[in-house]
Amino acid sequence: MDVVADCTDADKRLAAEAAAREVRAGMLVGLGTGSTAAHAIRAIGAAGLAIEAVATSEASAALARSVGIRVRDFAGVARVDLTIDGADEIDDRFRAIKGAGGAMLREKVVAAASDRMVVIADASKRVATIGAAKLPVEVLPFALCYVADALAAMFGVVEARAGYLTDNGNPVLDCRGARVDNWRDLARRLDAVPGVIGHGLFLLEVDAAYIADHGTVTRLER
Ligand code: 5RP
Repeated sequence: MDVVADCTDADKRLAAEAAAREVRAGMLVGLGTGSTAAHAIRAIGAAGLAIEAVATSEASAALARSVGIRVRDFAGVARVDLTIDGADEIDDRFRAIKGAGGAMLREKVVAAASDRMVVIADASKRVATIGAAKLPVEVLPFALCYVADALAAMFGVVEARAGYLTDNGNPVLDCRGARVDNWRDLARRLDAVPGVIGHGLFLLEVDAAYIADHGTVTRLER
């Protein structure tokens, strides 16, 4: 039995359940992607409130439907009340890196549409400053080599995620070792590369976080 993994998963579940208690009847809720978000989806389903949801991935949509949540097509939605999602890193300035699960583009669109975006995580995701986690970049297939070359000038390591396409049908380049001390500048430079469709830097979207550490949940508000 892997005790560390069990404790981490228990903390993910505690953080998710705490955030799920923010959901009220009548809300349109954004559902994140990943193992922590899956705990939130199950908790929201178990609460049995009259809500609707939009999902940031096909996997989260399927899980939500399986626990009785009505999932709407986001293409017909402009505004979401509350989104609950995981993160790979989050720092004290509410800057996050997301996308280890590859859903960062839909996650960012849904976060941008949301009145409130809450990150849920176990304590291993809380860092002094973001940057150690790989930064995933979703790329237009047509532009793959061009974008990889452009990113190589910004990062020490750029690796194609092998055998993987996002729900949007696009490849992902995982980047590490950014030569940068200004994350907003890096985000602007990424956004300016033609062929970059999305990336996992969430610098302004996160309003709050629930972090669980060995059974104790802390809520942080921006
Ligand atoms: C998916 C994500 C996930 O929220 C992030 O990778 C955290 O995943 P997990 O909760 O499984 O640790 O950004 O694109």
